[in-house]
Amino acid sequence: MKYLENPFTPSFGEVPAHLAGRQQIIRDLDRAFLSQRRRPELTSIFSGARGTGKTALMSSLATRAESHGWIAVKTTALPGMLEEIEFGAKRAAAHLIDSSNHFEVTGLGIAPLGSIEVSRVHDASTWRYRMSDIIDQLNEAGTGLLVTVDEVDPTLDEMIQLAATYQHFVTDGKRVALLMAGLPNNVSTLLNHKTVSFLRRAQQYHLGRIADYDVREALIRTIQENDRLADAEGIDRAVRSISGFPFLLQLVGYRAWDLTSDSKEISSRATLTWESKSRATRWTTESSRQPIGNSLQRTSDSSSPCSMTRKSPPPLTLSSALCVRRSRSPATDAA
Ligand SMILES: Nc1ncnc2c1ncn2[C@@H]1O[C@H](COP(=O)(O)OP(=O)(O)OP(=O)(O)O)[C@@H](O)[C@H]1O
Ligand SMILES: [Mg+2]
Repeated sequence: MKYLENPFTPSFGEVPAHLAGRQQIIRDLDRAFLSQRRRPELTSIFSGARGTGKTALMSSLATRAESHGWIAVKTTALPGMLEEIEFGAKRAAAHLIDSSNHFEVTGLGIAPLGSIEVSRVHDASTWRYRMSDIIDQLNEAGTGLLVTVDEVDPTLDEMIQLAATYQHFVTDGKRVALLMAGLPNNVSTLLNHKTVSFLRRAQQYHLGRIADYDVREALIRTIQENDRLADAEGIDRAVRSISGFPFLLQLVGYRAWDLTSDSKEISSRATLTWESKSRATRWTTESSRQPIGNSLQRTSDSSSPCSMTRKSPPPLTLSSALCVRRSRSPATDAA
């Protein structure tokens, strides 16, 4: 059998095939990007522990904004970030903005050549006004500017300057959006900074544990869309091991995929046991020789695909997995 490319992304910042459990946030932001009137979600702050998917989510949101016509610039809170934002905006919007106002005529040559000397203006204006120019041109062209800032750092002056300037842009009615992400501690210190405490009124999303039914759905979809199958028992074990942690979803999926890469099925034999004590990435393969159900595409024998029991798990179909979602409690849907 030919080797099937592993679709899981146990890495950093990589947008996975399925962003589990983030549907509501994505819907909120989509609506904000599409709305003609300003919506509060255009200023959003994501906080979460390492590996909870802040970077991946912001990257995915930036791509979505672009697909809705926005110009998006992604940066990390590091010295030089303001320059990077300006440069990035000019580059991404080169087809929409006229950079001719950054040049000035410095001399007129007279005959015979009739030359005009043009040189780049040494731009003495502030960052705020240069950005204001760019955003105005984008707004006139019917679009807006989205800036994403990863790893927010409340001790960085440029971080504070960006937030303070952004407030001016919003006050002036410009079409701008700012998404920021960071560790909870850094986010909370930023929100307590006296200059930018208005950010407390931004939309805040805490990225926590992903609900099991979302983990299950992401696993199944990722496997199924890449032409393989997995049995219910294996998926159950994987979901338990993952315990709602986004990075683990990718790691478990990745290892399980590769362990049986010579077969169409990812069987429960390849389900790995998470060694919870060390939380290290060490997995052991179970040696069960039980026949493995042709799970994902087989219809359940039971009358309702929702009637999965632990004792005798029916073959897993996507619809049966989604039934778990239907019966969930909204209170657990804490993204
Ligand atoms: N919602 C999700 N569903 C499934 N996988 C995800 C999800 N979010 C992120 N991942 C995966 O988890 C891993 C970690 O994601 P990411 O690097 O975005 O986390 P992070 O919160 O930015 O971590 P850090 O704080 O270390 O920068 C990546 O491999 C990514 O593909
Ligand atoms: Mg990150």
